[in-house]
Amino acid sequence: MDLLKEAQSIPDVVHLEIGEPDLKPPPEVIERLNFAIENGLFNYTPALGMWELRERIAKHYWDYYRVDVSPDRIVVTTGTSGAFLVVYSILLEPSDSIALADPSYPCYKNFAGLLGINPVFINVDASTNYQITPEKLENLDIKAVHISSPANPTGTLYDEENLRNLCEYCRERGIYLISDEIYHGLVYEKKEKTVLEFWDKAIVVNGFSKFFCMPGFRLGWMVLPEELVRPAEVVIQNVFISAPTLSQYAALGAFDYEYLSQVRQTFKRRRDLLYEGVKDIFGIDAKPEGAFYLWADVSKYTQDSYQFAFRLLKQAKVALTPGVDFGKNNTHKFVRLAYTRKQEELRLAIERLKEYLL
Ligand SMILES: Cc1ncc(COP(=O)(O)O)c(C=O)c1O
Repeated sequence: MDLLKEAQSIPDVVHLEIGEPDLKPPPEVIERLNFAIENGLFNYTPALGMWELRERIAKHYWDYYRVDVSPDRIVVTTGTSGAFLVVYSILLEPSDSIALADPSYPCYKNFAGLLGINPVFINVDASTNYQITPEKLENLDIKAVHISSPANPTGTLYDEENLRNLCEYCRERGIYLISDEIYHGLVYEKKEKTVLEFWDKAIVVNGFSKFFCMPGFRLGWMVLPEELVRPAEVVIQNVFISAPTLSQYAALGAFDYEYLSQVRQTFKRRRDLLYEGVKDIFGIDAKPEGAFYLWADVSKYTQDSYQFAFRLLKQAKVALTPGVDFGKNNTHKFVRLAYTRKQEELRLAIERLKEYLL
């Protein structure tokens, strides 16, 4: 955030620090939004979300993954951020432990912190393609595991076998498995699997902020086991009342797969361009399979990614996110580059980085 503030105050910076898409949502989203505005549809919705949207999301599970999910199990939330808060609060008591990857999306631990839940960090690195595996959970006293695939900040994808094994591990031990699937859709070579394909009691959190290009609509959803729906409803009624109504109407138009495949292709081209451009400047283990991030080892230049990011910002006019934002596990040696900018901007960033670092 300090870096973002600084980056915004310097003209002509190339912004590779921004973790949200710069593309527009499918056109029907805007049409539906306008319809809702013109017709004055400004009331709260039910706490679990508009039934029509819950049905539409359930249909998405069938159309996209061939997984049959009842709309009764879909809960619409105020972003995935709202979903994490709700799901942590219904699953865990203060001082219960939840396993989180290090590095991982920093807000998970902050949600845990708000609720007095104890985060247990699992160091992940290139040796497991940045995945938490069952072996890494052995002997831990945890009540839940929270994974993210594809992951922020590494862009890596959990493989099918590991997902299956994690499901089995958690099922056998009565551990909750929470899977953040917000970057689903932004997977470039493989077809990603939802964890629900392996275990229907796993908890999925997803949303409209990334693939659907609707970050400011503040809309997400969860797929919950039936018995957790009512507890989630009670929390939402009390904490949020409901997710934003206009956004829910708009999201009915979000599932335009033809348009969304263009979004995917755009990000794929950007990934290829940025990866090819920086792989000889930084240490990058492998081409990331999804999301819109590259996780780059900068240890040949620095042991302090925070200072390094500021130096690059001021001297090369390229804004990156220092690895230390995402944990403590060797993160001082890494930076995250987001390819949420047009190709010409990415080319300019590559040029500037080469000129400054080589
Ligand atoms: C892994 C991950 N999960 C969740 C979120 C939050 O998204 P939302 O806009 O749905 O609150 C982000 C945002 O960057 C993210 O990277």
